[in-house]
Amino acid sequence: MGDAANSLHRVSKRSWDSETLPHGDDKVTAVRQMFDAIAPRYDLVNRIMTFRLDVRWRRKAVRLLELPPASTVIDLASGTGDLCADLARSGHRPLSFDISFGMLAADRSGAPRVQADILRLPLPGHSVDGATCGFALRNLVELPRFFEELGRVVRPGGRIALLDVGVPHSRVIRWGNNIYFGKVVPKIGALLSDGAAYRYLPKSVAYLPPPAQMLADLRAAGFTDAEHHELSGGITQLLLGTRS
Ligand SMILES: C[S@@+](CC[C@H](N)C(=O)[O-])C[C@H]1O[C@@H](n2cnc3c(N)ncnc32)[C@H](O)[C@@H]1O
Repeated sequence: MGDAANSLHRVSKRSWDSETLPHGDDKVTAVRQMFDAIAPRYDLVNRIMTFRLDVRWRRKAVRLLELPPASTVIDLASGTGDLCADLARSGHRPLSFDISFGMLAADRSGAPRVQADILRLPLPGHSVDGATCGFALRNLVELPRFFEELGRVVRPGGRIALLDVGVPHSRVIRWGNNIYFGKVVPKIGALLSDGAAYRYLPKSVAYLPPPAQMLADLRAAGFTDAEHHELSGGITQLLLGTRS
């Protein structure tokens, strides 16, 4: 049996439903299979579990790109295309990239779609004006490599806006957030979609490096003015930067 077949064999059908978080190739396979499975109800669960705050966070990210209309902006790990729709509404030309065929099939944004691993973008150097990424950083196996890939494809002066879940500074908000995402969200997920996938969500925050580390890696990748913003009390974080 070849390496790829071996790896598929090791990763069980619901490998995201385990006590330990997967790493390396197992993580890539688990993430892709999980999003294929939850794609049909992904938007519904998102809206319910965030009380539609996710809509506001994405719009803010697009606004803070501060790019002129008609900019070519790639949305990486685009999922069902929410950011692409916001980019189009702001007058930009979005392109959608995701590893999951299920998520790409559920994309109704109308943006051109590409199935790709965003750690290896099928794009020439300095070919786009901007990039967005919503709630996917923790799903990647090598975050510094993703930042380097952004530095490679975004033109000098181009902008990036990257969203993901955050860890609130306030102990009270952190406590409430942990209970909500640890106990309530998996129940909503189980009712409407896949409980295991929504149990994975709070656990997967452990993959994210602290903001200072992400800023250092972004600066090293050529976004020397990289900034970190906390949204909604820190339950979400937004990284912004300009390619120098
Ligand atoms: C939580 S969803 C976010 C979707 C969308 N950006 C949003 O804001 O709702 C994470 C997405 O990342 C995608 N993804 C994870 N790892 C990826 C990779 N290495 N390359 C491309 N897409 C990836 C998944 O397929 C999934 O669609």
